Amino acid sequence: AQDKRESLYVINQWASKFFKHTLWETELGQSIGLSYFRERGYRDDIIKKFDLGYSPEAWTSLVDEAAKDGFAKEYLTELGLAVEREDKSLYDRFRGRVIFPIHNLTGRVIGFGGRTLKKDKTVPKYVNSPESEIYHKSNVLYGLHLAKKAILENDVCFLVEGYADVLSCHQAGVEQVVSSSGTSLTTGQIKLISRYTKQVVILYDGDEAGIKASLRGTDMLLEEGLNVKVLLFPDGNDPDSYIQKYGASEFRSYVEKNQEDFVFYKTNILLRDAKEDPIKRAEVIREVVESIGLIPDEIKVSVYIRQCSSLLDIEERVLLSELNKIRLAKA
Ligand code: CTP
Ligand code: MN
Ligand code: MN
Ligand code: MN
Ligand code: MN
Repeated sequence: AQDKRESLYVINQWASKFFKHTLWETELGQSIGLSYFRERGYRDDIIKKFDLGYSPEAWTSLVDEAAKDGFAKEYLTELGLAVEREDKSLYDRFRGRVIFPIHNLTGRVIGFGGRTLKKDKTVPKYVNSPESEIYHKSNVLYGLHLAKKAILENDVCFLVEGYADVLSCHQAGVEQVVSSSGTSLTTGQIKLISRYTKQVVILYDGDEAGIKASLRGTDMLLEEGLNVKVLLFPDGNDPDSYIQKYGASEFRSYVEKNQEDFVFYKTNILLRDAKEDPIKRAEVIREVVESIGLIPDEIKVSVYIRQCSSLLDIEERVLLSELNKIRLAKA
């Protein structure tokens, strides 16, 4: 079993090299893949730092090379590099996509994300490696191997949605950043972060899905005992688009100025929708208290209840009794 795992690592490493070689050394790779990354605004040093690549459009470029090197078919399919047709023949899974290798903590390649270059909305924007013996999506944070030092030094972790966001943050000189690879943060990912820091700032996309996920993520992080701040980007931007539009220093000062403690963030977001409707406002208060109730540390709970009381102009006593009700209902 150990032999198999090692083979899977070796094949992924080999595939990553293949994609990188295609990007930098072939005509199609340069004219399609490399120009795509450069047009998005990524510098060559960032493209190299993240080992980005390109998978040729042809059906069997990687599969043919892999056969020459004698890699087992079933390993290629388990890793999701190849897909098996009914007649048992194989074709490349990531055809015609730019490639983001996904690394584990020690920097070994455990999977890939491939982005389409097509504008066509019916094509999935990203295709990712399936679960395999060496890749368990729910326990992986994209970019962590390049972020751990900066997370420790700064004692904070920025949590973003996507691959591109991680790249742009690094390019902007912000390296304490990881991606949950989408909006569904998992407990496994949170446990990984909490090895390095207890401070998390959520920098999800400023669209409906990102806001919803930021609230869900907040609750999960609070439950695991982490301190949570959240930042909302304007006009549906994500960190990547914000940085590419406004530049690195504007991004850093935006993050510095606009990150808010979760109580303020959640209250503002929910009140925005509730407007002056008293019933909806009451519901907002309950939901904010519910989040506070998830915090395992009672001292923090009482600090947040006090903050919430002045923010919403509601007596602490009322909030505390609400908190107890919520807790009883859960017990
Ligand atoms: N994602 C995915 N599959 C999809 C869409 C998204 O795996 N079909 C994951 C990817 O890790 C992606 C992240 O969710 O990076 C965030 O999604 P989204 O915000 O839609 O994409 P961006 O990262 O902003 O992609 P880009 O900037 O390249 O358009
Ligand atoms: Mn395993
Ligand atoms: Mn998004
Ligand atoms: Mn995004
Ligand atoms: Mn984006």
